[in-house]
Amino acid sequence: MLKEKFKLFMRSVPQSVFISIAKSIDNEFAGLTISSFESISIKPIITLISIDKLSESLNVFKKSIGWTVSLLNEEQEDISNFFSNRNISQEERFSREYPISKFLKIPYIEDCIGYIECIYYKHLSMGDHVIFFGKVVNVEILNEKKPIVYYNRSYRKLL
Ligand SMILES: Cc1cc2nc3c(=O)[nH]c(=O)nc-3n(C[C@H](O)[C@H](O)[C@H](O)COP(=O)(O)O)c2cc1C
Repeated sequence: MLKEKFKLFMRSVPQSVFISIAKSIDNEFAGLTISSFESISIKPIITLISIDKLSESLNVFKKSIGWTVSLLNEEQEDISNFFSNRNISQEERFSREYPISKFLKIPYIEDCIGYIECIYYKHLSMGDHVIFFGKVVNVEILNEKKPIVYYNRSYRKLL
């Protein structure tokens, strides 16, 4: 079946792992693990993330002022699992303390390689996902650690 073959193909694509956290206009937070982060334009700097329509975070992203995208390092498998476990509610995900981004005052992941701050630009419904475009307003590079890689349904380290 085409869908299964496509999934198999995607398993062979090594992917970086990010945590994206959005802040809504009513100061609500939502966050999840994503690999669907792309740079779209440099002038202006526009990026995208793609979120499953079944995701609990979706509504907060839809009414968000913006979001952070934190690039996880090779030791951050646990935090990736924490933000991708559907049995861990959004409330539980934010019962911990997180550092707050410089510009938009949105949580990001401590000790990540770096994070960007995006202002909501627009969203587009695409099949079973919603694509969110964000205008990058700040970039912070925090360390020179190696990124964690998601490949063939497990986490790997770069050599
Ligand atoms: C490595 C990895 C990458 C993921 N990438 C995405 C993604 O790009 N978009 C998405 O909607 N879900 C992605 N997920 C799944 C979500 O993290 C997961 O469904 C999460 O529990 C959604 O949280 P929520 O329903 O509370 O919003 C990914 C999961 C993993 C482990």
